[in-house]
Amino acid sequence: MGSKFVLVKNKVKKFKKILQVDGDKSISIRWLLLASQAIGISKAKNILRSEDVLSAIECLKKLGVKIKLSNQNCVIYGRGINGFKLKKNLILNAGNSGTVGRLILPLLIKSPFKIKIIGDKSLSRRDFSRVIDPLNKIGVKFFPKGKKRLPISILGSNYLRPINYYEKRGSAQCKTCVMLASLNTPGEMRIFAKRSRNHTELMFKNLKMPISVKKKGEIDFIKTSRPDKLSSFNLDIPGDISSSAFFIALTILSKNSYLVLKNINLNPSRLGIIKILNKMGAGIKTKNIKLNKGEKCGDIIVKSNKKLKAINCPSYLNSSAIDEFLIIFLIAARSKGISYFKNLSELNKKESPRLKLGSKILNMIGIKTKLTKNSIKIYGNPNINLNKNYEIRNYLKDHRIMAMCTIAALTLGGKWKIYDPESINTSFPSFIKILKTSFDVKFK
Ligand code: S3P
Repeated sequence: MGSKFVLVKNKVKKFKKILQVDGDKSISIRWLLLASQAIGISKAKNILRSEDVLSAIECLKKLGVKIKLSNQNCVIYGRGINGFKLKKNLILNAGNSGTVGRLILPLLIKSPFKIKIIGDKSLSRRDFSRVIDPLNKIGVKFFPKGKKRLPISILGSNYLRPINYYEKRGSAQCKTCVMLASLNTPGEMRIFAKRSRNHTELMFKNLKMPISVKKKGEIDFIKTSRPDKLSSFNLDIPGDISSSAFFIALTILSKNSYLVLKNINLNPSRLGIIKILNKMGAGIKTKNIKLNKGEKCGDIIVKSNKKLKAINCPSYLNSSAIDEFLIIFLIAARSKGISYFKNLSELNKKESPRLKLGSKILNMIGIKTKLTKNSIKIYGNPNINLNKNYEIRNYLKDHRIMAMCTIAALTLGGKWKIYDPESINTSFPSFIKILKTSFDVKFK
């Protein structure tokens, strides 16, 4: 993109469209990490070519894994479990990605050398004790001792032991970290996890790895153990519902418009956005549902809607919509009544403090909010129509803030100057291109 900011000064014109979005980020990264541990060649189609995924690829290449990318196709030459080429003074850069930073660690737990993990400014302020603590219990060491953030160095061990792990945040990253650690740990890992996205479980099952999952209320009891080997596997990666969320919002908040999003991952553990918006009266539908290697995929159909009502959002939906709250807040701002979202302290621990920044952006556009450390009340205004100038900067280049503000500008009006637009490349590199080519949006 090159420019320091984009200028958005017109609402999007009414539209009727069929669209595809980029591949799913969580699935792309998991496929890369697991395929690197397989024996033989694995191939993926429609892999997300975003900066987070490229960080995963760069880390794996530094660990001696051969990877070829061409367009949306990726070929990876797996080196088998614990088959990385390890050496002294390795530094792995996870960039902006919490998922890469936290999920590469369990693949290094037998390393005889210290490996340093670094990240960008945003990632370096995020909590890593949530994965350091369980890995410590498994027998892994970290340096400097007691440090909770990147940069940190990991030193593996030959004396690893399985643990009972209680995951209480609803964090798929923490759960997956311990699950991946079981690739290199003898015995049975027992994980009691508050429900969260279950792509790793589905991949383990699909690969016939030793795993059992029992569901009880909001808890999943997962048992995993070390497989003898992992066979290579191909995957056709579906579209990302977290990227779709911005176009769902664009449609709902525009006039007389209609959108079909094709071949999106519709894993129930990711459907929070649809469930929440439908409780608000959005009437979003899904169709053509198929199973793709254990993952539900299908189309999303959405229409403009002027009659949305506020929601008292049940906390059990939080984890399944965790990356979508910024855009949900924007829709709540245009809905009738006071919406309430609670038990959301995790949101301030993302690429930026999203609960705080989301509230600040809504205040900037004249929407009243009541903010606490873990909740927000949004006083919606169905007649909101903006006509002032707005400037978005200093948001830690959080890709989802960038996209939320672009959608606000395209639907609520006003003249928006959004700095660091390239931040969107973290998760959704086609975002601007889709707006330009399919929705005739002009950016300066
Ligand atoms: C992710 C899990 C979520 C999410 C992140 C991707 C994953 O984080 O916010 O964007 O791929 O496992 P937490 O597990 O920390 O909530």
